[in-house]
Amino acid sequence: TQSQAPELPVDQIPAFPMERTCPFHPPAAYSEIQDGDAPVKVRLTRSGRIAWLITSHDQVRQVLAHPGVSSDRTAPNFPLAVNLDPEEIKNMPKPALIGLDPPEHSVQRRQVITEFTVRRTKDLRPRIQQIVDDAIDDLLAAGKGADLVEHVSLPVPSMVICELLGVPYADHDYFQERTRALLSRDSTIEQGRRALNELGDYFVELLTAKEKNTPDDMLGRLITAGRADGTYDRDELAALARLLLIAGHETTANMISLGTVALLENPEQLAKLKADSGLLPTTVEELLRVFAIADVATSRTALVDMEVGGVLIKAGDGIIASGLAASHDPGVFPEPHAIDVTRSARAHVAFGYGVHQCLGQNLARAELEIAYETLFRRVPGLTLAVPAENLPYKNDAFIYGIHEVPVTW
Ligand code: HEM
Repeated sequence: TQSQAPELPVDQIPAFPMERTCPFHPPAAYSEIQDGDAPVKVRLTRSGRIAWLITSHDQVRQVLAHPGVSSDRTAPNFPLAVNLDPEEIKNMPKPALIGLDPPEHSVQRRQVITEFTVRRTKDLRPRIQQIVDDAIDDLLAAGKGADLVEHVSLPVPSMVICELLGVPYADHDYFQERTRALLSRDSTIEQGRRALNELGDYFVELLTAKEKNTPDDMLGRLITAGRADGTYDRDELAALARLLLIAGHETTANMISLGTVALLENPEQLAKLKADSGLLPTTVEELLRVFAIADVATSRTALVDMEVGGVLIKAGDGIIASGLAASHDPGVFPEPHAIDVTRSARAHVAFGYGVHQCLGQNLARAELEIAYETLFRRVPGLTLAVPAENLPYKNDAFIYGIHEVPVTW
């Protein structure tokens, strides 16, 4: 029984993104929409585009697993969160992975998947531990009141992804500044585009240097493999490297900060974790679920007509499959806003679902486990230096997080 949702006049279509009233909970409007259990239309504030917002767990997975959806950001109705004119969209840099559809997507994903297996990640654990320990030494040396983001949350994943790719960590100021400009809703289009182009140029230069003596790091191995099968394309690899760098540090950094704050604010949960380090994996899944920081990364355009929750989504319509709402669906996660470190939260959609499911999820899990465990073990008296409600949350960014977390011990 397909039915079109009632047509609302444009000015009555709810604006998106929706506001949060509590930094630890999804926007309240998500649960109201979920109650109706059908996709609703929303209007993106920056681009003015209209898209379907999907909030139920099974509908989000249905859409993300559907072969008839596209991740092409240049499609006319793609739910772009920024306001680009069609001329600018045509000039957007070449996409990598996240912006590609099969079969191109499958080819590129196959090229890098071996670098991100569970086994590869396991081998990296001792080095991640060392990086976390050094960061905590640095935090302790900075003294009480130091910023957790500056000393731990940002440098840890940044250094890990740099080492993995073979990017000199000495350049981190350069790419962190540009990542910030790229992911902030406050940046102008021009600032965002410049940041993206500069990151691309940076990698073109780095790859040109690596082509001469192909080192044994990820980019070196990808150059060698690409040359061996005749597919090597410098611009394409630069775009992929840029995506990996951005996706690899900003996301995990925000999760280190948010997870630490959430555990400090839920002392009975933290006590359970401290009493039993065997709870680390479920703690990490639960924190990923609760924050689902890349909420709208899972946006698409429908390529065919499809029925979702009794509503007809037409070919060409934009879709926002909210990972945050789905990960708080009360039908799947009872008392969804409560943090329970013993919960089996693995069915969350914080890493997406379907062919684009997060490539770096094993790496992110390893980094988060090691960061939380080491931080609470080595700094047992860790507390926030300012009340949690006064922290500067990234309500302005595409990836949720916290700008600064002053801590003491
Ligand atoms: C894709 C979330 C860490 C690399 C995604 C997607 C989500 C996500 C929701 C799906 C996007 C879509 O469906 O269009 C997260 C979260 C992280 C995290 C919450 C940390 C807590 C990482 C790390 C890397 C990474 C550490 C490392 C390199 C990628 C890549 C894709 C992706 C390359 C695109 C995959 C594809 O299109 O096939 N991530 N991510 N992510 N993520 Fe992550």
